[in-house]
Amino acid sequence: MAQPLCRAAALVEGAARGFVFGTNAARQAVFVLRYDGEIRAYRNACPHQGTPLEIVPDAFFDAEGRFLVCRTHGAQFRPADGFCIAGPCAGRSLTPAPVRVEDGMLVLDEVD
Ligand code: FES
Repeated sequence: MAQPLCRAAALVEGAARGFVFGTNAARQAVFVLRYDGEIRAYRNACPHQGTPLEIVPDAFFDAEGRFLVCRTHGAQFRPADGFCIAGPCAGRSLTPAPVRVEDGMLVLDEVD
């Protein structure tokens, strides 16, 4: 099943936004971002311990807007591909989430 997220135009350069669907075993958490003009989406689970990256809602980027940061232990990820460049999970990557733009809306595919 596909899940509409938000209008693609609402996701401005350097912005990120988190979404949670379902409960218990069916719970899914993802976040979307726009970086270098491209929209990306990842599962909101740090490769280190599986916890969500953000503490403050939608605060996925560092202060400079260069890297995504896990607020639990400070891992840093490249926005373009989710690769961890520093922190306890250096060398691992965030898991991409399947999003597409349909009629101006960001849509997440494969939602249970
Ligand atoms: S849980 Fe993300 S760096 Fe430890």
